Amino acid sequence: MSALTELYQEMANCQDCELAKYRTKVVPGEGPEDAELLFIGEAPGWHEDQQGRPFVGAAGAFLEQLLVSIGLSREQVYIANVIKCRPPENRDPLPAEIQACRKWLEHQIEIIHPRMVITLGRYSLARYFPNESISKIHGKARKEGDIIYYPMYHPAAALHQGSLRQIIEADMLRIPEILAQAGKITEAPVEAQQLGLF
Ligand code: URA
Repeated sequence: MSALTELYQEMANCQDCELAKYRTKVVPGEGPEDAELLFIGEAPGWHEDQQGRPFVGAAGAFLEQLLVSIGLSREQVYIANVIKCRPPENRDPLPAEIQACRKWLEHQIEIIHPRMVITLGRYSLARYFPNESISKIHGKARKEGDIIYYPMYHPAAALHQGSLRQIIEADMLRIPEILAQAGKITEAPVEAQQLGLF
């Protein structure tokens, strides 16, 4: 059994927070174990809870279009969420729920060891870029160790606020260039990080 499949089995039995009472299915995440890109959304919605798969609603359709724009399909990347179970009525996850769920994403990242972690929306932003505002840092990559962290607006934001659509599209289009640069630079200098290159 693969390491991810084993992890999914453990997740399916998770009772570590109240959300276990309300879920239809756990939504562990999906994609290849050797994915180079790992996208992290917020939490499952109604469709995701029914199917046990991440990003299968309208935001997911837009995410797939964004991936196509850089020559990828969703099967080639890993898609996960900060929270693996749907909060009732899609309410915001509570800090205790986020904390209880933390270990699952950590294990996923350890197993997959992606080249790039792309945060989508405020919960994954808060995790990797604490106290930063998405309007200031979207589209600016930061390299830590051998992983590049790249904050983007959540695709659902563009569905609610049309003006963000072009920003999200442009941020996605920069990903191949950033990966190519990262291949050349082993240790990103601090100035490059501040310039938003890394
Ligand atoms: N679907 C998900 O799985 N996560 C989100 O953040 C939004 C929609």
